[in-house]
Order: sequence, then C-alpha cells, then structure tokens
Amino acid sequence: MCGIIGYIGDKKASDILISGLSHLEYRGYDSSGIALMNNNNVEVYKAQGKLINLINILKEKENHLLNYNIGIGHIRWATHGAPSIVNAHPHTCCFNNLTLVHNGIIENYQEIKEELIKEGYNFLSQTDTEVAANLIAKEYTKTKNLLDAMQMAVKKMKGAFAFCAIHKDEPDKIVVAKRNAPLVIGLGQGENFVASDIPAIIEYTKKAIYLTDHQVGVVKKDSVEIYDENDNKVENKIEYLPFEAMAISKMGFKHFMLKEIHEQGDVVRNVLSGKLLQIDKSIKLDEFKLNKEQIKKISRVQIIACGTSLHAGLVGKYIIEKFAKIPVDVEPSSEYIYRDTIADENTLVIGISQSGETADTITAIKQVKQKHSHIAIITNRADSTMARLADSLLPISAGIEVSVAATKSYMAQLISLYILSIYLHEQLGFSDFKEEIQNLKQELLELPNKVEALLEDTENIKKIAKKYSNFKDFIFIARGINFPSALEGALKLKEISYINATGYGAGELKHGPIAMLDNNMPVLAILNTGIVYDKVLSNCEEAKARQARLIGVTNYMAEKDIPLFDDLITIPFCSDLISPAVNIVVLQLLAYYISEYLGKDVDQPRNLAKSVTVE
Ligand code: M6R
Repeated sequence: MCGIIGYIGDKKASDILISGLSHLEYRGYDSSGIALMNNNNVEVYKAQGKLINLINILKEKENHLLNYNIGIGHIRWATHGAPSIVNAHPHTCCFNNLTLVHNGIIENYQEIKEELIKEGYNFLSQTDTEVAANLIAKEYTKTKNLLDAMQMAVKKMKGAFAFCAIHKDEPDKIVVAKRNAPLVIGLGQGENFVASDIPAIIEYTKKAIYLTDHQVGVVKKDSVEIYDENDNKVENKIEYLPFEAMAISKMGFKHFMLKEIHEQGDVVRNVLSGKLLQIDKSIKLDEFKLNKEQIKKISRVQIIACGTSLHAGLVGKYIIEKFAKIPVDVEPSSEYIYRDTIADENTLVIGISQSGETADTITAIKQVKQKHSHIAIITNRADSTMARLADSLLPISAGIEVSVAATKSYMAQLISLYILSIYLHEQLGFSDFKEEIQNLKQELLELPNKVEALLEDTENIKKIAKKYSNFKDFIFIARGINFPSALEGALKLKEISYINATGYGAGELKHGPIAMLDNNMPVLAILNTGIVYDKVLSNCEEAKARQARLIGVTNYMAEKDIPLFDDLITIPFCSDLISPAVNIVVLQLLAYYISEYLGKDVDQPRNLAKSVTVE
C-alpha cells in the first residue's frame, strides 16, 4: 500500500515522478505529493484524492519546475490519519530541511513521537511518517550526513518501511531504506530512479537493484551505494526487469480490468507452457524442488493466502485432496499468524499471492519457515518478497495486473494448482484416476479456446448486468469445487460495484441466509453437470419459493429446469472439475459490467489497494 518514487538526473523530475505515480496509483489513491529539489531549495506539492488533482496543481508551475531535476513522490493509502492534505506525503521535518516519503507502518511511532515532543519537536500531521522524518532529522543534527542519519534512525524504528529522503544540505542524493516493504532502484545513464514497483520505472530502464530488508542506499545520478544492516557497503546486485512497458497499457480496452479478463486465454497457455505438453505425458514441474521421496513424506498441506488468492487456494484444496490424497487446510494468512499452527518438516506450505507483497501472507510464511516446512510460493511476481522466501517458486506468469480487482492472476493461480495437483499425483505413483487425469489434461489444453469463445459474445452478460445493476444485495451459491467460485464472484461484485454480495455453499442457504430472501435479493447459482447439480437445483427451488430472482450460470441445463430461472448464462461445456476456470470468467464480466453501468471507478475501487503491504 502506498507507492513511492524517486528521480535524480538531468530531466524535469516532476514529469518523471508523476508518470511513475500514475503507474503506482493501484497501490492507493487517497492523496499524492512530490518534493522537488534544485540546489539547496526544496518545494513540496500535495493534493488530496486522485493523482489528477496533483497534476492540475502542477500544470500552473510547468516552467518554474523545469530546473528541478531531483525529486521524491508518493501516492497514499491512508493508515495513520485521514486522507487529507496535511497527512499527505512528502513530510518535512520541523527544521524544514529533510523531506521524506514512506510506504509501510512504523509500529513504535507513538513512543518516538512522545520523546521528540519532549525535546521540542513539533508535528503537523497524525502520520507515523512525519515522526520518521523528524527522527532522521534529529540524527542529522549529530551526524551532518544523511546516510549516517538514516542508518542510525532506522535502527530505532520497528515495523515496515520503504523510505526515500532528501536533504537541502545534500542536494546531490536521495537516501533510501527498506524493511518489509518493497523498494527497487532503477539504473539509467546519468540518471537513477527509485520506486515501490517496476511499472513506475519500466519505461526508463530495464536494469535494477532490488533492496533487501535492512539495507540503506545512497542514490546519486551517476552512482548507487548500498549498505547492509551493519552499515557495511555491499556489492550491487543488478537484475534485468521482466516486464515490457507495453504490459501497462490498456491496449484499447476501456479499463485494465476488461483487458485483463480478455487476456485469460493466453494466461492459461502461458502457465501450461513447458509443463503440460501431451495428455499421455507426465507433468513437468522443475520449479517444484521436492523429489519423489520427499513428496511421499508430505503428511499435510497448508495453503495460506488472502482475498482472491485465498479463493484459488480453496479450489486447490479440492483438487490436491482428490489427486494427491493429502489433507489440505486453507486459511487466510491474517488468521494463520495468530494461532499455534501445527506444521513441521513434513508439511508442504503453499503461499498464494498475486503481488507477492501481501504483508499478512509474508508474515505467515516467515513464521512457518522456522518450522522447517517446505514453502512453495505461487505468485505473479517472481521478483517479490514472497518469491524470495520460497523453497519452490512457482511463477504464474500472468503478466502485470494493473486493475485492483484480481482476474487473470486468479485464473493463473487456478491453473498452477491444477498442474501442481496432477504433478503430486504422478510423483506419488498413484495408478487410479487414470482416465480422469487424462481428461483433465485434455480440458486444460482446450481451456484457452473455451475462455476465448466465451469472451467473444458477452451481450447476454451485459444485458443481465444492466437488468440487475440497481439491486442492493446479491447472494451467490454453488457447491463442491465451485463453492470458491461463488465466494470469488461475490467478492468481485462487492469490491468494484459496492453492492452487498455474499457467497454461500448452496446447502448452507437454508441454515440462515434464506431468511433474507425476497424479490429484492437476487440469487446467482452456479450449476454444472456433476454430482452436485441436482442438489444446487433443489436449493434454487427453495430460493424461488421465497420469490428470489434467480440467475443461473451453467454448462448444461435440462429443458425442464430452464423455466425456474429468470436469467441464464451458459458457458461452454466442460467437466465440473475444470468448470471453476470457466465460470469465473462469467462472474468477472458480470461484476465488471454492473460496475460500469453504475459508473464506478472499475480499476481503482474506493478504499482498496492492489498490494496490501500492511498487516
Ligand atoms: O497480492 P495478493 O494476491 O496476495 O492479494 C491478496 C488480496 O488482497 C487480493 O486478492 C484482493 O482480494 C483482490 N483485490 C481481489 O480482487
């Protein structure tokens, strides 16, 4: 949450900072601000709300800002204090010479603040960042050196931070620091960049240094120096960035979300590529580092994730238990970390995360790592903190996902879990399910075409979205392997349209939620051919008997059952086992078009951020 950016070079810094922030807006959009330095002069500009408000302020300063070639910027997702101008970053210390942007949370900021107040420091905002700025400034009074001051200050702070600081008396550098929040330094020719994430700098450079926890760095226009937690200089580890600037364009779609939904056929192809070649060949999964003997020793699997990734994990439970016959627990990371979880060296822990930066999941993984469990990470960011914690890194290669609502990354997570389940089954040498596995492989290979066929004609979904866009509440029901689809469909709808939507296992309806049903509470039911079809149908009858309007999402429906439904969306025929990967496309589109009709901000829904880097 929150995005930070820094630039030092010969170009107009404000343009580069604004362009960078526009690519970090997915991390928060409560306020934004930049600080620009020219020799010993620093100017700060801030605006509440979306970045466009800051852009409008800067328009009047176009010429004035031409010679400001160093700067730091921030886009905020409010943690401490309301989303106001006074709480917006950058924050300047009370001596008015050090300016700071920050991503993360300083857990002991109150203690530090109280001490600083006793010493005569004063504060304008409610933020932990202003406290950090003053603490670094205090150290500066002793060291007269920004690097030393930062090194001393970070040792006194607890919690998570990525910092970029500038000081009026050292106009040739940006000093950065990192602990438990992402920070990357982009390397240019006669210019360097700092950012929370690659999209902010990818149009300028493909070379970068990822800071690791506890490192502090000095970024000048021609050099970068990094120091470890003992203040020793370390060698710069230069990496090549995996993205093209193209990946962060809408490519003609109205929203990133719609573009990303439409990319899902290719996403499936990418995940399968090199792993599933033919239906009669075993899955190849070199990224999974346990050998056959070690796999045989796995006694339990724990999947930890949040939000959409958690829903993918629930589908994973279903298929891993079925094919690998190992018990699987799936738990939100935020719950996992506050329990005495039972894990040992025979536990396979699977962390799932689109961003690889979700704070709760990172903490959970760090905790369980101490129990010597094998950690497999399924992530879309092979360059993320979580990826670096992995024993087995299973990258999903969905390409960068900009829209806050996860779509193609969910699809890629599902496919990775199918692949992993079949792989475990094959490595364990089971001889049952032979035909079912071959059919599943065949269906995985056919999936991209089915997804693309569905995306070719979305008129019916658009029509239904329009019809239901004014309802205030929704219930999504399903059973078996599609229960997580109901949860994910409801999550998609609520997060981008703000309609109250809840997913239930259809069998649970009559144990309470049915009390809410009437003709103002539409019920969306997922019914696929398979063992739960008749059961879900009975649950639909129960809902209809309470006057609920029924929307069916199905791969096949008997003629006699059709009249029960007010509206029906038919997906290409597929087995129940693979159907979550097809049904979800319908639910994503439905949420998208409802949000669109309501005129909501589809890609940047209120109160949310793409990467939740605070616990
Ligand atoms: O990056 P992660 O997958 O770890 O993020 C977890 C959730 O914050 C995320 O899935 C969230 O629920 C999505 N915005 C939902 O669309």
